[in-house]
Amino acid sequence: MRRSLVVANWKMHGSRASVESLLGELLAAAPTAADVAVCPSFVHLSQAVAACAGSAIGVGAQDCSHAASGAYTGEVAAAMLADLGCERVIVGHSERRQYHGESDALVAAKLNAAVAAGLAPILCVGETREQREAGEAQAVVAAQLRGALEGAASLDGLVVAYEPVWAIGTGLTATPGQAQEMHAWLREVLAEIPGVDAGQMPLLYGGSVKPDNAASLFEAPDIDGALVGGASLVAGEFLSIVGAAGA
Ligand code: 13P
Repeated sequence: MRRSLVVANWKMHGSRASVESLLGELLAAAPTAADVAVCPSFVHLSQAVAACAGSAIGVGAQDCSHAASGAYTGEVAAAMLADLGCERVIVGHSERRQYHGESDALVAAKLNAAVAAGLAPILCVGETREQREAGEAQAVVAAQLRGALEGAASLDGLVVAYEPVWAIGTGLTATPGQAQEMHAWLREVLAEIPGVDAGQMPLLYGGSVKPDNAASLFEAPDIDGALVGGASLVAGEFLSIVGAAGA
């Protein structure tokens, strides 16, 4: 039985004050229905790690460098994140692929760097609206998965998040049927990749997950949780999604 996982991706939002108040509300509620992690911006990570110490809420970063260390101005190494107390890191988010030109090869290198540092990667895959309309959605996500995972030295702790680009921040959500169909396909592709235990891996859905659509998404047999953007910035909404995941 796979345990549910709900991850907050706060993206480039927040201040020290808002992080304190949001985490205060989440910690007071102490959600246990599902595993929970929050991914603040780099500059709020150490505040979040300190606040969540000793709680059931884990902390992750939104990205990491492909390199272990060195002359990479502005980059943050996975080992630095692990040293800070992070447990997870998101790699391959579509906003990184879209705005920073990240290729599957770079995502693979980041994933390897994360695993080498002892972080559990959350690998994001997903197709654009044009790709879905052209009937290419399954081929696109399969290529993203294979590109990031084949040849990886170890895939310990890996979680995959399916985030259709057309559903991110748009208010459009994949229907539970569309999401389930893709999650079942992801599990099929994952089963062929050496080192992956596809039956045990949590598969998260992301893209306009809200309190009013979360329960129906989580009813699908291959949807094990969510990667939540906008709704994760409002404690009540995020906690309601966590509750739905554990129901
Ligand atoms: P929204 O929930 O705001 O659509 O964002 C989804 C996402 O990109 C999470 O990583």
